[in-house]
Amino acid sequence: MDKRFYITTAIDYLNGQPHLGHAYEKVIADVIARSRRLLGEQVFFLTGLDEHGQKVQQAALSEGKQPQQYCDDLAKSWMSLAQKLGLTNDDFVRTTEPRHKKVVQALLTKLHREDHFYKAQHEGYYSPKEETFLTEKDRRPDGTFDPSWGEVIRLKEDNYYFKLKQHQTWLIDYIESHPEFVQPTYRRNEVLGFLKNNTLEDLCITRPAARLNWGIPVPFDSGFVTYVWFDALVNYASIPAALGDRVVVDAVGSQLPTPDSQLSLWPADIHVIGKDILKFHAVYWPIMLKAAGLPLPKQLLVHGFWQKDNAKISKSTGNIIDPIAVIDEWGIDAFRFYVLRELDIGPDGNWTDAGFAARYQAELANGLGNLVNRSLSMLKRYRGGVVPAVSNELKPVVEEFAQKVETAWRDNELQAALIHIWSLITRANQYVDQTAPFKLAKDPAQASRLDEVLYNLTEVCRIVAVLVSPFLPTTAARIYEQLGLRALPETFSAAQWGALPAGHTIGEPAPLFPRRDEVKK
Ligand code: MSP
Repeated sequence: MDKRFYITTAIDYLNGQPHLGHAYEKVIADVIARSRRLLGEQVFFLTGLDEHGQKVQQAALSEGKQPQQYCDDLAKSWMSLAQKLGLTNDDFVRTTEPRHKKVVQALLTKLHREDHFYKAQHEGYYSPKEETFLTEKDRRPDGTFDPSWGEVIRLKEDNYYFKLKQHQTWLIDYIESHPEFVQPTYRRNEVLGFLKNNTLEDLCITRPAARLNWGIPVPFDSGFVTYVWFDALVNYASIPAALGDRVVVDAVGSQLPTPDSQLSLWPADIHVIGKDILKFHAVYWPIMLKAAGLPLPKQLLVHGFWQKDNAKISKSTGNIIDPIAVIDEWGIDAFRFYVLRELDIGPDGNWTDAGFAARYQAELANGLGNLVNRSLSMLKRYRGGVVPAVSNELKPVVEEFAQKVETAWRDNELQAALIHIWSLITRANQYVDQTAPFKLAKDPAQASRLDEVLYNLTEVCRIVAVLVSPFLPTTAARIYEQLGLRALPETFSAAQWGALPAGHTIGEPAPLFPRRDEVKK
């Protein structure tokens, strides 16, 4: 069984409604998944929900619901967001599912048996909001704790700890010798800086059940549930195990059921995550895997944070963007385009409604929309919609850009890929202005020149549809439909010049990106 290209997203806390940041990350992963499929890879794309822990338990309580009921009710709207975003995820994990819990418990059992844990009492300052003990280092210069920790209480309790100190050296060596492991490079440097300047504290991996019961029971001590991060990180491996991935099943435990299917997924090729959860993924997760005898994921692809109007996105101040409302107003492809074109994977970004509207008008409506609409309308008007003989005038430029886009896909440079595609669109729009087919059409002596121009334009539209398809799947499908072609191609070889045959009759041209005030009608 061939190993698939396995890509994951962070799993979102189920303690509220999805916002822009959650949607952005899922779109990044989806575009990478789609582009890799187009390049011929067998892909497995996993996303899902992080349902245990204090945050979720508190949210359930505040609504007067049992946590499981609360999660079941809310999970539906998150799953429908995945659909609304056009995600092509192959599975959707919920950490309250038995298939996940079994693997977490098997892993705990194994690591406990192999002496990676110890039980100890700890007394200190604790942030219930962030579910973590604080240290002296967390104090501000004036001695207080930052309000972002919420209420800080004094707490004394027994827990199990994961011995991390022995892992510090190999982890530094690993990150040093695998530059691709954490991307972009400045995030890698951040992790290395942290590891080189601090001694790793052992990680508390349990919570006393008397205080927090909404978690996976610890199999070797019924007085405890699993710390939510130890539970959540394991999702990346629990789903492969549930689908019969031998690498995980063999490492984690013989007590796991062996399913009929036998997908080969682990190690993950890419974990797409936000910068705030880098330490969990670049420090704790590799150590958990190494202790379990599992290979490390190949790459953490770390994106930045969105703000709106230069201020933090926050429910309490009302500074939020509801991705569903934006999609309902502007269409799914406009949303996907804006977030990936506006913000490269890495730095922080700033959403403005005016910026969104400007990109919609300039790049989607006037750029791509105009190219396709005028090209197909002219073919319809001047040649009855019948494709003329193959002509190769734009072939070199299209090949050059298709090559650049392919390279950008392989490097996960999604913003760069969009910039290349739009350079090609601009070039093709200039070609219309330079060749002036509307003038050629008036002169019967120019009939064969008009044929050439129309072929080049129609073929550019088709290839642009293939190139935009991972980003704008709905639009790409509509261009293919307007071209009178069958379903969008599934392989990148369709982007080769000349595949549009002479004599083919196209379908009906229609605007792809109507004016904003017409979108809603
Ligand atoms: N449940 C944990 C992740 C566990 S992964 C094993 C969590 N959940 S979260 O809901 O708080 O965040 C989910 C993802 O959304 C994270 O990758 C986070 O970085 C991302 N974002 C949350 N707010 C964001 C922005 N404002 N902008 C961009 N992404 C942000 O952390």
